[in-house]
Amino acid sequence: MTLSGKDLQKKNAGYKAGEYIKDGMTLGLGTGSTAYYAILKAGELVKEGYKLEAVATSNETARIARENGIEVLDLNDVEHIDLAIDGVDEIDGAFNAIKGGGGALFREKIVATLADEVIWIMDEGKPVDAIGEFPLPVEILVYGHKHTLKELADLGLNPVLRERDGKTFVTDNGNYIADLNLSAPLDIENVAKKLAGVVGILETGLFLNLCNRTVIGTEDGAKVIENPNKKN
Ligand code: 5RP
Repeated sequence: MTLSGKDLQKKNAGYKAGEYIKDGMTLGLGTGSTAYYAILKAGELVKEGYKLEAVATSNETARIARENGIEVLDLNDVEHIDLAIDGVDEIDGAFNAIKGGGGALFREKIVATLADEVIWIMDEGKPVDAIGEFPLPVEILVYGHKHTLKELADLGLNPVLRERDGKTFVTDNGNYIADLNLSAPLDIENVAKKLAGVVGILETGLFLNLCNRTVIGTEDGAKVIENPNKKN
């Protein structure tokens, strides 16, 4: 199939990130339509003879990775992660990102914080001057979720319980997602502080300065931007 537009940008970003994969690595594989191409590239490397193993940030990613010949392990069965490659929903110039559009934010954050190196891959629509336009996903406990949603609403965070196919969306961890309808520029510190005070929240889709570099796919190739301030 001939790709064009965003699909081609995603593919070019995923394949470019694949150039950072080295033989013998343990990978953290992200979730979503851009991460998909990095998984395909990793699968091609396995077919070329690379010895790779991976942890997956979602059941869907685990399935795609296995289908492409990649050995997928439980996170508890790996000692460390060399390189995590994942997508983003929005990212600003200071490498502050919103993630979780695909509902995998909790595992994605665990993998990103454990990995020695993190690459965010994206199409040209993802970099923004200021994050906040994309609804900020937060993973919430099912138990008492109506009270959690009310608390979020009382804080002025405009939560909407995520649905898929007319049913409440359930994460791979068995939790719900509240999408917070905010606006750009997001007052990141203020929102993070409010969220930290809500007991029913398990994790947020705010990924602040968590990547070593971004790879932005274009229709001709990909642009790599190094993060000079990543804290390891
Ligand atoms: C999943 C994510 C994805 O990385 C994010 O939604 C980007 O997805 P896509 O590459 O399909 O645009 O955070 O939870």
